[in-house]
Amino acid sequence: MATAHQKKVGNQVILKVRPSQGLKGTVRVPGDKSISHRAALLGAIAQGETRIDGFLESADCLVTLRCLQALGVSVKHLGPGAYEIAGRGTLGFQEPTDVLNCGNSGTTMRLLAGILAAQPIFSVLTGDESLRSRPMARVVEPLRSMGARIYGREGNAKAPLAIVGTQKLKGIAYELPKASAQVKSAILLASLLAAGETVIREPAPSRNHTELMLQHLGVPVVSRGLKVVLPGGFLPRGSELSVPGDISSAAFLLVAAAILPESDLVIEDVGINPTRAGVLYVLKAMGANLEILEEKWQGEPRADIRIRSSRLRGVEIGGSTIPSLIDELPVIAVAAAFAEGTTVIRDAAELRVKECDRIAVMARELTRLGVDISERSDGWRIKGGRKIHGGEAHGAGDHRIVMALAVLGLGGSNEVSIRGAEAVGISYPGFAKTLRQLGADVEEVEYGIIHS
Ligand code: S3P
Repeated sequence: MATAHQKKVGNQVILKVRPSQGLKGTVRVPGDKSISHRAALLGAIAQGETRIDGFLESADCLVTLRCLQALGVSVKHLGPGAYEIAGRGTLGFQEPTDVLNCGNSGTTMRLLAGILAAQPIFSVLTGDESLRSRPMARVVEPLRSMGARIYGREGNAKAPLAIVGTQKLKGIAYELPKASAQVKSAILLASLLAAGETVIREPAPSRNHTELMLQHLGVPVVSRGLKVVLPGGFLPRGSELSVPGDISSAAFLLVAAAILPESDLVIEDVGINPTRAGVLYVLKAMGANLEILEEKWQGEPRADIRIRSSRLRGVEIGGSTIPSLIDELPVIAVAAAFAEGTTVIRDAAELRVKECDRIAVMARELTRLGVDISERSDGWRIKGGRKIHGGEAHGAGDHRIVMALAVLGLGGSNEVSIRGAEAVGISYPGFAKTLRQLGADVEEVEYGIIHS
């Protein structure tokens, strides 16, 4: 118990995961994180009202809503996952009276930077320790070449970012050095209010949710191959937006079901946009017993996915497919640990600048738990089939690392105890509860840290 002079700082969670037989049943996963951010941001700058259903109520997306409220946007909560956003349209945002804290969310910071560059107000974007260490020059540079006045630490490379917005941005022709939907989207959002056309070229396809949503909201953006063209001077029109289940969250359940011996799982209404669904192709190539059912289109392609226990084999993954599964690589590494043969993952150096250095942390934690994995500069080499002996692991404050380690624990031969599991709330609130409902042996133990 904390005394009067001591303070309990937040709740920390240890996730205890024990070997399990299988995942059985039918579930939904929470709304797509990338699409939820975009729905809120585009709704906020639209003319008229936007009604969003299936919005992901996780820490990252709630931070986007809080930043928008601080910019004068009215956000009405209508029920679970349902929001009405009153678009500011030509009125523009109000100058915030404090810094905008983007928490752990790179998408919030990078996309909002694009919008704020074109609003005639002063704003400062900051975030937690992880976000303040992540590269921001990739958005600052193209925005500056459009005429934006945006400044950051370390020669404009790191947050906090200070933005002196202007209504005088000019469209640009920009070649992305790396495929990045966050950078592409930041430029597209800035170019909505810029004079003249913007043309973006990517080296490989990155997720196209912004383009699809802009089109749905009446902005004539044209996307052909690796080129996106947007004429300046168009604001989106408020409308209805429905967010599908997040394939990045579904990936943890898919891999768990595949590696456990008695699984039969259906995940309903998951987004299967090909620029995001690389994990489905990889699992298929690994021999997973996976079927796409009930495919439909509602703003985005979506489907039910059935997966049963599978005998997986090693694969090689690299090249232009990497952006379509970048966030799923930690759990694909776990699938590889249970596959027959060797898996090599290359061309994924971007993993080093995510919420943590995911290449180094996964190599360290999987080694600790018994996996035969070696770290490469741009990925891993994993030899499958070794016995997972379990023990203690640490999620390094990264939601996807914690969940990947949890999946490993389900398929191991002893308990895996994961510290820092509160990070799961960044993208998948209810992860442990869902696993339990599907028959897995998972327990969350909360503890507080007492500071004097
Ligand atoms: C995201 C794009 C990807 C992804 C991130 C979400 C987005 O990042 O890893 O989790 O919503 O646009 P990059 O744009 O840095 O590749």
